[in-house]
Amino acid sequence: MDALIEIDNLSKHFGELVAVDNVTFSVARGEVVGFLGPNGAGKSTTMKMVTGFLTPSAGKISVCGHSVADNPLAAKTAIGYLPEGAPAYPEMTPLGFLRFIADVRGMGASLREERIREVVSKVHLEGVLHQPIDTLSKGFKRRVGLAQAILHDPKVLILDEPTDGLDPNQKHEVRSLIQEMASDKAILLSTHILEEVDAVCTRAMIINKGRVVQDGTPAELQSRSKLHNAVTIRMAADKAASARNDLQTLNGVAGIQELTGSADQNGSVSFQVLASNGQSIINQVGVRMREKQWDVEEMHVEKARLDDVFRSLTSSDVSETTVSGGVS
Ligand SMILES: Nc1ncnc2c1ncn2[C@@H]1O[C@H](COP(=O)(O)OP(=O)(O)O)[C@@H](O)[C@H]1O
Ligand SMILES: [Mg+2]
Repeated sequence: MDALIEIDNLSKHFGELVAVDNVTFSVARGEVVGFLGPNGAGKSTTMKMVTGFLTPSAGKISVCGHSVADNPLAAKTAIGYLPEGAPAYPEMTPLGFLRFIADVRGMGASLREERIREVVSKVHLEGVLHQPIDTLSKGFKRRVGLAQAILHDPKVLILDEPTDGLDPNQKHEVRSLIQEMASDKAILLSTHILEEVDAVCTRAMIINKGRVVQDGTPAELQSRSKLHNAVTIRMAADKAASARNDLQTLNGVAGIQELTGSADQNGSVSFQVLASNGQSIINQVGVRMREKQWDVEEMHVEKARLDDVFRSLTSSDVSETTVSGGVS
């Protein structure tokens, strides 16, 4: 694995508060890692340490093989960073700001103008190049921030809530841009928008109270949902009890979750057959229903919702629904 970001036992304390608590992970070329977590989880603090903006209390970070602590200039040269809220100098114009950033990055004049032309067209800044940044809408300010982050075509991109506060069209544009750039870069982006993970990320890490509580592909994350591949069944109430008892004993079935307490006006009830480890159980369930000749009014397979998983991993006070049949 060609890891461009390597983070090893990283911690950050602010006085008594442990904002980042012994975090270890790496991001390889081609990966877009979604850094997810509730407010205050430690996402921005971690990113600030990767970019050298904050000094870790403990742990090591290397970017493209350069230690951020020992060789900060080499590490920072390889990084493009969009900080939270995309701050910029408000009195500058986007063109002036991008020229300033290019100079700081040590670009010669001709490369500078060429790169500015390229990023301006990528993030669609043509119409506002000469207008003070202060007077731009939130969406344009964010694009200016993105433009400066990608100006030197860095191998590593750290994007702190890149789509926060943008309207749906702008979100879509930024996500497309991230996908376009992803193949030869390592991208770490923070978000608390779960649909963003599905839309752009190859991997999702959930951080809570400074600790990584989940790290995997979006599909793996979904398979952690109790409901993933569950089969929801609606059938006559008088047959339902024996059906539930029977289905509960099938291989791959973790348990049964009742959805309705009493029968509806047609005399029907609904329940869910839960799958162990998110495996597919629809075939076994269907075969058994036909064998027993239970009439089913409705039967469908559930798909996990990321927000279920997110909530169960990051909140300690989510009330558990009643489950019979011993779900572990
Ligand atoms: N400079 C700071 N001084 C003291 N506490 C801070 C500082 N920066 C962040 N924190 C605290 O660290 C925790 C993590 O914050 P942050 O990394 O910004 O979370 P996130 O980006 O996930 O919302 C929060 O409790 C926050 O209040
Ligand atoms: Mg933050």
